[in-house]
Amino acid sequence: MVNIRYLIGLSALLLLANSNALYAAVDINNGKNMFNQECAECHSVKEGKNKKGPSLWNILGRKSASINDFNYSDNMRSSQIIWTSDQLSAYMEHPKVLVPAGKMKYDGLDNPKDRADLIEFLSSLH
Ligand code: HEC
Repeated sequence: MVNIRYLIGLSALLLLANSNALYAAVDINNGKNMFNQECAECHSVKEGKNKKGPSLWNILGRKSASINDFNYSDNMRSSQIIWTSDQLSAYMEHPKVLVPAGKMKYDGLDNPKDRADLIEFLSSLH
């Protein structure tokens, strides 16, 4: 016979492991590492410094295509996106889905935790 206390213990453990994964704390250091690894080739977080992509300083809440001296794609210019956390996450995941024929040549960041951490890092820059 299966030991019922063993079963209860096991399900409690599984529950705990699950909720830990769901509520894992946002990790700004991982966000910074992700930025350096995934975005820094094309983006600076310094105000006014554009590279292949526009500066991402103060990006949270910014309107899309609002850096005057950056040459955006037509679709980014007409997209009227406000860069909320949700929009940033969607763009990072599938740049060409949110802005078809956009100029950002980036395949996308699959891991939702990495995206959340990266957004936390970006939101600290203002
Ligand atoms: C290969 C270069 C490249 C990489 C890598 C890259 N980007 Fe971009 N990014 C661009 C370019 C170019 C644009 C302008 C897109 C357009 O005009 O369609 C852009 C635009 C953006 C915008 C819109 C900014 C605005 O002013 O409206 C955001 C937000 C952004 N990128 C975030 C990121 C993040 C976060 C990463 C890393 C996960 C990343 N990008 C990786 C080149 C890149």
